[in-house]
Amino acid sequence: MTAMNDILILAIESSCDETAASVVKNGREVLSNIISSQIDIHTLYGGVVPEIASRKHIERINRVVTAALEEAHVKKEDLTAIAVTYGPGLVGALLVGVSFAKAYAWALKKPLIGVHHIEGHICANYIENKELEPPFMCLVVSGGHSHLVKVVDYGEYEILGRTRDDAAGEAFDKVARAIGLGYPGGPKIDKVSCEGDPAAIEFPRAKIVDNEYDFSFSGLKSAVLNYLNSMEMKGEPIVREDVAASFQQAVVDVLVGHSMAALEEYGFKKFAIAGGVASNSHLRKAMEEECAERQIEFYRPSPIFCTDNAAMIGVAGYYEYIKGVRTDWTCNAVPNLKLGER
Ligand code: KG4
Ligand code: ZN
Repeated sequence: MTAMNDILILAIESSCDETAASVVKNGREVLSNIISSQIDIHTLYGGVVPEIASRKHIERINRVVTAALEEAHVKKEDLTAIAVTYGPGLVGALLVGVSFAKAYAWALKKPLIGVHHIEGHICANYIENKELEPPFMCLVVSGGHSHLVKVVDYGEYEILGRTRDDAAGEAFDKVARAIGLGYPGGPKIDKVSCEGDPAAIEFPRAKIVDNEYDFSFSGLKSAVLNYLNSMEMKGEPIVREDVAASFQQAVVDVLVGHSMAALEEYGFKKFAIAGGVASNSHLRKAMEEECAERQIEFYRPSPIFCTDNAAMIGVAGYYEYIKGVRTDWTCNAVPNLKLGER
């Protein structure tokens, strides 16, 4: 049910390989969440092919938006504003969502709100945790980003740490490919690790000297590749489950270690995780245990709101909207948009 004074945001997300649209009511109520994934197509190539992603977004975006409005039982005339991811991401993929949203908002004479994709991931935590409000600490771990962020207020962020090389999800995808699990690697490593021994192989946990909260996962990835090569050269069998579990344990240890150290230093009592890797079952369990030990309130979105979706963009768009943010018609895709920038 919607009422006259409800704020209804139609949100569009197309930054990578998911074409998604959602209607969000008053910032935290998701009326629809339509996600058209291209995973089956990109699996054939072992990763996302940007040109194919853009074409598929064009083919699907109309249907996805229509489905989002239908499922929400909202007429497009009743929308308050249109929110869209305008960065960071693949430029061609972003452009499809941005162009569509601009045309849609212009035709309907509704405000347009450009949303930062990472801000969307963080805001996914507001959907199922109605009581969660800033300030809190958030670890955003996705295919393109690993950020440890102070959420100072709605739309106000301070980055404490970021990756120096590969993102956490990227490392999962690359290691999965190396051990023959295919794309996308994260969910597959998560699954096979349940049958492996996380202590079987000692992989490195990188520490960055000049910023203890920064991450580096490329050394870990190389260590896994070196291990696989050396086993092959020695003619010894590789236990895929043990490699996956040991690699995953190294990532989890680093993510948990950095997060707990930052929580202690800055004295936050609330901690959230976000992004595709936040759906990892071992990471969720480890974070939950560590937070419980320190009496820190732990928040994590359901897996469907961890990986790319438009509902999270609708939530972020709502908070920008009520602050008075409006994006003009010159809005463009910004592939390397930084968090906190406009
Ligand atoms: O947030 P997301 O959907 O897209 C980006 O913004 O990048 O994250 C996708 C990433 C991929 O690298 C994928 O392998 C990883 O999240 N991922 C996972 C899991 N599910 C998705 N990584 C570890 N465990 C999972 N269960
Ligand atoms: Zn994402």
